[in-house]
Amino acid sequence: MYVAPSLLSVNFLRLEEEIKAIDAAGADLLHIDVMDGHFVPNLTFGPCVIEKISSITKVPLDVHLMVKDVSKFVDLFIPLKPKFISFHIESEDHPIRLCEYIKNHGIHPAIVLNPHTPVSSIKHMIEFVDMVLLMSVNPGFGGQKFLPLVYEKIKELRQRIDEKNAKVFIEVDGGVNGLNASDLELAGADILVAGNYIFSSDDYKTAISSLKFEF
Ligand code: DX5
Ligand code: ZN
Repeated sequence: MYVAPSLLSVNFLRLEEEIKAIDAAGADLLHIDVMDGHFVPNLTFGPCVIEKISSITKVPLDVHLMVKDVSKFVDLFIPLKPKFISFHIESEDHPIRLCEYIKNHGIHPAIVLNPHTPVSSIKHMIEFVDMVLLMSVNPGFGGQKFLPLVYEKIKELRQRIDEKNAKVFIEVDGGVNGLNASDLELAGADILVAGNYIFSSDDYKTAISSLKFEF
């Protein structure tokens, strides 16, 4: 099980300190939410800020694009060499082509599903992605209430991945905390994103470990 703290909830006035602290606390990935004010009603990080972030940490970046014009934005983030670039199935007409484009640049492509989007919508895409991110809140903001509908989606997705004998990570994002983490892992999640839960705690290391359930 991997944990990806979401930087949306950091104290931006102490960004460098926060990144170093989360790095030392054992973050497996740094989840970075890119919002364009169109796909979601909020604005966040651009490539200049992310480049600075990557210069002070060795933790691999997990860039979650919540943008309308995905193919235009992807080229801004490829030079930053994140581990994953994920984009929403709801905002791209040619997702397979875009996944291949991302992969050709040595980055793992991932597809994201909003809470209302069925897992069946990506049944022909599973072999083209390295990760599927299932949203457990409606995207746009940190600190929202977890939607339990994601459990059923994780189970269905895990079954579809196993049927194809594919190696695809399942990531869950939104409202993840110490109470739902073990159920998410039992359902089949591999990577948990958590913003508010980790950054509102006064001990990041303990908060991260509490999301890693040992079977
Ligand atoms: C929501 C973002 C999430 C968010 C998660 O649109 O994609 O990554 O930061 O934050 P919490 O864990 O606070 O729900
Ligand atoms: Zn996210």
